Amino acid sequence: TKVDWDVSAPGKQGYPYFMAKEIDEQPTCIRRILSNYLVNNDIEFGFGGTLDDALKNFNRICIVACGTALHAGIMGAQLFKKWTGINVDTEMASEFIYSDTTVGPDTLFIAVSQSGETIDTLEALRKAKEAGALCLAILNVRGSSISRVADYTLYTDAGPEIAVASTKAYTTQMLMFYMLALKSGLVRGTITEEYFEEATSNLRKIPDAMAEVIGQKDAIHKLAKEVITASDLFMIGRGLDYTVLMEGALKLKEISYIHSEAYAAGELKHGPIALISEGTPVIAAVTQTHLISKALSNVKEIRARGANVVLIAKNELKADFSDEYHVIGLPDLDDEYMSFPEIVALQIYSYYVSADKGLDVDKPRNLAKVVTVE
Ligand code: AGP
Repeated sequence: TKVDWDVSAPGKQGYPYFMAKEIDEQPTCIRRILSNYLVNNDIEFGFGGTLDDALKNFNRICIVACGTALHAGIMGAQLFKKWTGINVDTEMASEFIYSDTTVGPDTLFIAVSQSGETIDTLEALRKAKEAGALCLAILNVRGSSISRVADYTLYTDAGPEIAVASTKAYTTQMLMFYMLALKSGLVRGTITEEYFEEATSNLRKIPDAMAEVIGQKDAIHKLAKEVITASDLFMIGRGLDYTVLMEGALKLKEISYIHSEAYAAGELKHGPIALISEGTPVIAAVTQTHLISKALSNVKEIRARGANVVLIAKNELKADFSDEYHVIGLPDLDDEYMSFPEIVALQIYSYYVSADKGLDVDKPRNLAKVVTVE
């Protein structure tokens, strides 16, 4: 079905760009994964339960990837910490290959890759394998090189992702980590059956929440127009918001060429706030209830220095802020699941900045979809 993403560009299967199509496909991709893995309110990875045993017994986890895949892994690390109490190492693959490592037979090593061909991630996985780690891959492309090295492979089955800027690969990778961390918590007894039950019903709410944000794309487009001439943009947040903003900032920088960076809101006063001047555009995500007052005080600090702030907040709080700020309102999921609607809003925002700048959204300068050279 032709979808109006209201940008006049050579049509792509009814869409102006593949990225628009792939943003739109995300609710369906998430539903597909949930129907494959969420069985009778349990999360089943298959492998005859041997992966569950690994999730139960390993006390060291190391997640290694590049770019967007690494951002999904960093979210995964937060979730393992939250639901199992395990402290997870995350590392850029290009650094992991050449640095000292403590990875060994006691380590569950997780490689994340959309293509399954990224040479940095493949080499990192080979190094971990040689060190005796148990290797799990989270991939989108079946039969890719990484799947031939890993002991276990979980496929996101998101379908071909053509746009260089990753969207559905990120959200489906992230969902894999939600399920891995929740299942780990259940088999380790660090979360209760009741909590697990509640969590699986929260997972089921994700696709509709993402679809709701996609339905708000025109309002997001209006805000995107305000920054098409910007050279710098800051994305600030705390906790899981900060983790999601890492991916949001990469989206914006790689397709609009605006220098955008994610900062932990509490870190601004230790240096980065020196970069804020009159009119600096800032996106501040404030979806984590227990952190809102702290995050808002950081927002006030930068507004006092002239920043133009757009808030990303739950709809239930939008009214509280909208007389002072432009607000991108998100569906009210439990805090831990806000990452899905939040990143969709940032994908759409980045998409429109790039499209309205007349750039090639699907094929940004200097970038390749798969990096097969170190
Ligand atoms: C993200 O939008 C980029 N396409 C890039 O950072 C990508 O995530 C990275 O190169 C890793 O690719 P992979 O997932 O195929 O390994």
